[in-house]
Amino acid sequence: MSMINEMIRGLLEEPDMIAALGNVSACINEVYDRLNWAGFYLVKNGELVLGPFQGKVACTHIAFNSGVCGACYREMAVQRVDNVHERRDHIACDAASCSELCVPIIVNGQCVAEIDLDSPEYSRFTETEEKEMLQAASDIAEAWLKHQW
Ligand code: SME
Repeated sequence: MSMINEMIRGLLEEPDMIAALGNVSACINEVYDRLNWAGFYLVKNGELVLGPFQGKVACTHIAFNSGVCGACYREMAVQRVDNVHERRDHIACDAASCSELCVPIIVNGQCVAEIDLDSPEYSRFTETEEKEMLQAASDIAEAWLKHQW
């Protein structure tokens, strides 16, 4: 288990969702360098709604049919985008963003939230980090059930 995943597991002992995910976003932002945004979108009332995050002001509502975050929801699959300017569906909350990693959090076969990371550097995200964020998503899914989020 990697260091970041150990840290995130500890933070997920917190039973309040906003408190726990706020700290998880801070942890990711601290451990991973060269990020300009790190946070969550939560599935609420048929759309993605901004959750706890670190970074600049961001889009508050994203439809399932738009953005990299929408694709992550529809496909229930990781979106590791080396160059967001080549993705026609990319939503630029911050013009500085060049690459993005978006990971679905799946509970009982349904995408309930997403981890979203942005970087001002092209091809910023590695396969190792993708695996770490998949592990984090799986640990968050476990906490989701345990704490009844
Ligand atoms: N880039 C995302 C929007 C969310 S921000 O990156 C915080 C997208 O294309 O869905």
